[in-house]
Amino acid sequence: MARISASVYTSHVPAIGAALDMGKTQEPYWQPLFAGYDYSKQWMKQNTPDVIFLVFNDHATAFSLDMIPTFAIGTAAQYTPADEGWGPRPVPVVQGHPELAAHIAQSVIQQDFDLTIVNKMDVDHGLTVPLSLMCGQPQAWPCPVIPFAVNVVQYPVPSGQRCFNLGKAIANAVQTFDADLNVHIWGTGGMSHQLQGPRAGLINKQFDNAFLDRLIADPAGLAKMPHIDYVREAGSEGIELVMWLIARGAMSDISGGKAPEVKHRFYHVPASNTAVGHLILENV
Ligand code: DHB
Ligand code: FE
Repeated sequence: MARISASVYTSHVPAIGAALDMGKTQEPYWQPLFAGYDYSKQWMKQNTPDVIFLVFNDHATAFSLDMIPTFAIGTAAQYTPADEGWGPRPVPVVQGHPELAAHIAQSVIQQDFDLTIVNKMDVDHGLTVPLSLMCGQPQAWPCPVIPFAVNVVQYPVPSGQRCFNLGKAIANAVQTFDADLNVHIWGTGGMSHQLQGPRAGLINKQFDNAFLDRLIADPAGLAKMPHIDYVREAGSEGIELVMWLIARGAMSDISGGKAPEVKHRFYHVPASNTAVGHLILENV
């Protein structure tokens, strides 16, 4: 049977991708940020999964405002890095896992979550920057990836509670896949940031660190936080953090198992306009 062995949480910022792609990681501005992922790259090498289930948000790249799925699962064999205005990032094409993705779609839809099936999609910085942070600059990504896109761009967005419940349903789905696969689930986006309006540039370190504390120790309580609190406290783009609750909801302790082990925790400001947070949790 397939199993989820770990969850990874990390912010995404387009400028992080650009810093990597342009060889600027050792510049004074970026060095402390990338240093926070040294352990993570090592950990990924030692704990390479068979598949990554990568929860991310598209930024009006694959989905224009013409059509906006709340939850969309990628069932394709591969996904091309998107052109977000400066040409596609020079990173490998993402290989999918159509069999596991189709099984998860079947199971999660039968558990009463409405997923959109996506057979063709270009993936933007929301997906490629977390892969770069965790894997560096390889010739090929270390394993197949199932992209799972959540709408946090156009209101209404899903609640933290719904994301948390969905994570639990995804874990059920993975457990019923009839192959011995080691799966990681990643929650990406956040932390506090606001890119627009009078509060542009907002960062809230206190909120972010409390969010990390609660994500580890009180995820069910954290899931109850209404979306307006994310916007007030973490800024309009801070709402991306609800995606972390999908990954956290898929961990064993939520379904009666033991509390996960915290393998790594990192927080850094600034990275462009965004506070960067990062956690690695392992099921024990
Ligand atoms: C920035 C952050 C984001 O999450 C994003 O999607 C785009 C830009 C930024 O900080 O610049
Ligand atoms: Fe974003």
